[in-house]
Amino acid sequence: MSGNILMAASVPDHVPTSLVWDDDIGGFTMELDDPYVAGARLHEGPEIIWSTHGYRGEQGAWMMVGFEAMREAFTDFERFSSAGSAGTQGLLGVEWRQVPIEFDPPEQKMYRKFLNPLLTPAAVNRLSDLVEQTCSELIDNFAARESCEFITDFAQLMPSYIFLQVMGMPKDKVEQFLDWERETLWTEDVSVRVEGARKIRDYLVDLIAERRVRPGDDLISTVAGAEFEGRPITDDEAIGYCFSLFLGGLDTVMSVMGFTMRHLAMNKPLQQRLRENPDLIPKAIDESLRAHGVVVMRRIVRDDCEFRGVAMKAGDQVMLPTPIAGRDPRHFADPHRIDPDRSDKSGLTFGSGVHTCVGMHLARRELRIAFAQLLARFADISISDPAQVRYRTGITWGVDRLPLDLVAA
Ligand code: HEM
Repeated sequence: MSGNILMAASVPDHVPTSLVWDDDIGGFTMELDDPYVAGARLHEGPEIIWSTHGYRGEQGAWMMVGFEAMREAFTDFERFSSAGSAGTQGLLGVEWRQVPIEFDPPEQKMYRKFLNPLLTPAAVNRLSDLVEQTCSELIDNFAARESCEFITDFAQLMPSYIFLQVMGMPKDKVEQFLDWERETLWTEDVSVRVEGARKIRDYLVDLIAERRVRPGDDLISTVAGAEFEGRPITDDEAIGYCFSLFLGGLDTVMSVMGFTMRHLAMNKPLQQRLRENPDLIPKAIDESLRAHGVVVMRRIVRDDCEFRGVAMKAGDQVMLPTPIAGRDPRHFADPHRIDPDRSDKSGLTFGSGVHTCVGMHLARRELRIAFAQLLARFADISISDPAQVRYRTGITWGVDRLPLDLVAA
């Protein structure tokens, strides 16, 4: 691609120079004041590129930039395997893989079938009162002072409290769990990531053992007591499930919540429209989810193949950056406009195909309830000091700091 200085040594022979992007997904943090607008510049080039670093400190990888290319890659498990794609085995030096996210069909189907009933819309309905109450208590903590740092005061606590309750993990350790997650997913230093992943693994292994002896009414106990084809779940399968849920469920909703609030705080007409028409909030949340993908998933090329005209080799890594797909102008007209009335809001934020996010009903419900309450409690929400807003891009994208001024309703 033009404008880049190629580092030929890191580019394999089968990758054409015209597709090389000498950069990585972690570099959009402060550019153009909006990482999504900065990231969308990739749509000016080819729909599939080769990133020389994949993610900082890592080897090069294919990157699906275009929406259609990414959707096809998400669903084509014959060509693109999820086996070992999250890199847990390499990170921890273990034999087990995350379940079901690091498995392909047919095993993936069996593992996913077990998880599905636990997070259906009906199961999520039973959590609504808890979500309502948690939101309301957290807002009470800062309502009187008419200001907050939205991420630490609300966005990181609300979904984490619900998730920990569902899992049966202690709420008072939330800061520690978030620290481990940050070490594992947010850092460029591999040794820090290994340490973070080890702490999560060790904690979960002990908890699973405890719940086998003293089961409770929670997801970890349900996983610990599972049976497949008439045999009890193995230790490897149990840790694989819990590890996958921990990494998938703890901070993803927080990230979308941060970007949604940033957008509303900067867009008073939309804020007011939603306040006056709360029935529009579910549509607005779906549209914000379309525009604010927050995770970069991975696959591994199974056999030498050609994909949409690009020759790929067995073992090549493939990155699926959902934050980029949601802003593809070839798929979404005026992609940076966040419009609840947009007719096609179905993006790739929750993935597509057999691995489509199992937590999406819970995530949507949390976002809807949170914004309904926030907009009802405050007649005006604005960013108090735009210079203090901080974003993060990389394997996960998020807002790290969002100071708000609030006017009570
Ligand atoms: C807005 C919030 C969320 C986003 C953006 C998100 C995103 C995603 C994406 C893109 C995938 C597909 C992975 C792939 O194809 O490789 C996925 C899978 C998954 N997510 Fe979520 N997620 C969110 C919330 C949650 C929550 C709250 C939970 C747990 C309660 C969760 C648990 C999982 C699990 C276990 C998988 C693996 C499913 C499988 O492999 O069959 N996620 N998520």
